[in-house]
Amino acid sequence: MAGNRTFTMIKPDATKNGHIGAILNHINKAGFKIVAMKYTRLSSEKAGEFYAVHKERPFYGELVEFMSSGPIVAAILEKDNAVEDFRKTIGATNPAEAEAGTIRALYATSIGENAVHGSDSDENAKIESDFHFAGTEIFG
Ligand code: CMP
Repeated sequence: MAGNRTFTMIKPDATKNGHIGAILNHINKAGFKIVAMKYTRLSSEKAGEFYAVHKERPFYGELVEFMSSGPIVAAILEKDNAVEDFRKTIGATNPAEAEAGTIRALYATSIGENAVHGSDSDENAKIESDFHFAGTEIFG
């Protein structure tokens, strides 16, 4: 059965470009309830740890540098079928391929600076949520 939580980050490009409010509104309008949220900045060590699965990829260094370059909004979202539905809400990784009206089509600038992250499985949603939040910071 599909889980009912996913994890997201509004990335440094979107926080810098003033899109936090619009993206949170888009998320709410798409039917997701925010059950945990924080405005924070990742150190390069933390960003490297979060994206460790991509360590061997050629873009890893660039990704870590970008994700630690400014503040992010980290959040846990609740909705039936959360992981899959949220990936539809944000659109393809590359904004040039993202469907019109999706968060990345509206607010992302490039494949590297793509406005938001969304977990790709229920298992990773749990791992990524636990990476950023203690149980006492989640209000489900
Ligand atoms: P995200 O969904 O956060 O998960 C991994 C991230 O790596 C992805 O979004 C992109 O920001 C980044 N990424 C994926 N492919 C590339 C690429 N070809 N060049 C630069 N960054 C990439």
